[in-house]
Amino acid sequence: MSRASITIDRDFTVGPVPRRIFGNFVEHMGRCVYTGIYEPGHPEADENGYRRDVLDLVKELGVSVVRYPGGNFVSGYNWEDGIGPVESRPRRLDGAWHTVETNAFGLHEFAGWAKKANVEIMEAINLGTRGVDAARELVEYANHPGGTYLSDLRKKNGSADPFGIKLWCLGNEMDGPWQIGHKTAEEYGRLAQEAGKAMRLVDPSIELVASGSSNRGMPTFGSWEQTVLGHTYDVVDYVSLHAYYEEKDGDVASFLASGVDMDLFIDGVISTADAIRASGKHSKYLNLSFDEWNVWYQTAREGDDLPEAIEARGEWHVHPRIIEDEYNVTDAVVVGTLLNSLLRHGDRVSIANQAQLVNVIAPIRSEENGSAWRQSIFWPFARMSELARGEILRLATTSDRFDTAKYGDADLVDASATWDEERGRVALFLANRGLDEAADVAVALRGFDTGRVTRAEVLQIPEGTDRFTTNDEQHQDRVGLIPLNDVTVEAGALHVTLPALSWAVVEIEVTKA
Ligand code: AHR
Repeated sequence: MSRASITIDRDFTVGPVPRRIFGNFVEHMGRCVYTGIYEPGHPEADENGYRRDVLDLVKELGVSVVRYPGGNFVSGYNWEDGIGPVESRPRRLDGAWHTVETNAFGLHEFAGWAKKANVEIMEAINLGTRGVDAARELVEYANHPGGTYLSDLRKKNGSADPFGIKLWCLGNEMDGPWQIGHKTAEEYGRLAQEAGKAMRLVDPSIELVASGSSNRGMPTFGSWEQTVLGHTYDVVDYVSLHAYYEEKDGDVASFLASGVDMDLFIDGVISTADAIRASGKHSKYLNLSFDEWNVWYQTAREGDDLPEAIEARGEWHVHPRIIEDEYNVTDAVVVGTLLNSLLRHGDRVSIANQAQLVNVIAPIRSEENGSAWRQSIFWPFARMSELARGEILRLATTSDRFDTAKYGDADLVDASATWDEERGRVALFLANRGLDEAADVAVALRGFDTGRVTRAEVLQIPEGTDRFTTNDEQHQDRVGLIPLNDVTVEAGALHVTLPALSWAVVEIEVTKA
């Protein structure tokens, strides 16, 4: 059994939980939109074609904000193709995913869905093939109350009220050579500065996200942020980060320590942003938008169809089945640690979007004309979104460690915690990265009088299976949360035994001591 000890002090807090870190992402990619959130004719579809079964799961997941419409897709997208009578909308080739986009779903449909799902919209603009003009026109169409050509066109298209979109991404992964309209940092920095300026002239209340590095391994990571923020610091409110992790070449130890990479990535971007703040003599701090993150098996698994393979065969499909990763127990543990990293950095990470919401590397799966179900990674997100309320607590954690090829040694037990004074609850989110060993975790809660345990659940390898176990349409609840029995609390001390390779939540009643 490995050991870890965590000390919590009521007075040592990071800041309030930013609700926008429980964001997600809907891209026009594969079956995320079509047969994901939207499938007219499905037995569960409402009068607008939104799948009610999927909507229910989105609400249960506890998503706060949804980024739309891409992703790589947005860098070749004309937003005007997705408005007006559906029958007159053009079918177009989408070069990013080598598919045919019907445009049956566009801004109005997404805004209607977002209202039903009770999520905030985070809209991305195309800075790949388009620029300043299309960006400011989209803001006018979406947010201006009326009395101009574009705002009246929105009304004519069925939305009398403006959509009131506050959050805007200035392009997507513009540092990536794979991006349609890929740019150098200099080219992108100037374009983003001018697009942002023009968008703010239309609606000064919007919040803007500059496109940062696509991952920490990019050769331009660091210098990209430096140049881009050099141009945009005054105009934007956030800089973006993207990261995907996978178990590769049998190196499960490094995969389990993916949160270490996320910590380093976040700390690096904060340092660069703060250096620009100092050298540019700016007073405001720039915060971070981790607007794409997840586990993604970019190396094909058996039976997968990768976008590159479809492209190589020269095929063009309408919403093909691509990158529908099935997530196992190990993936859920990693997702729990990535959420811990985001939460621990909640004073600077203001927004985060797991990518993507349905079918495409997603916590929710659905079948055309069939059912919808939760993947293993659904659970850490759902419970943290539900219970991480109030203040983020600054933890002092010491844990036995394990070796990894990529990140040196890392803690076996990874944790984050929040204190909701209003409800009188401390919630702890714990991961045991030990593949074979249970972990004994002792938590000292200073400054609190502790009461009963109000929630204790664990996600672990289901009995009789292995760490690769997943859910699927036939086994929708195979991997899920079960009661965690090994929890005791007395006189300010909590004691938890975590099974090998597990993610757990423990919530207890507290009052100020
Ligand atoms: O989420 C899938 C893709 O990953 C997005 O389109 C892109 O931004 C990223 O590379």
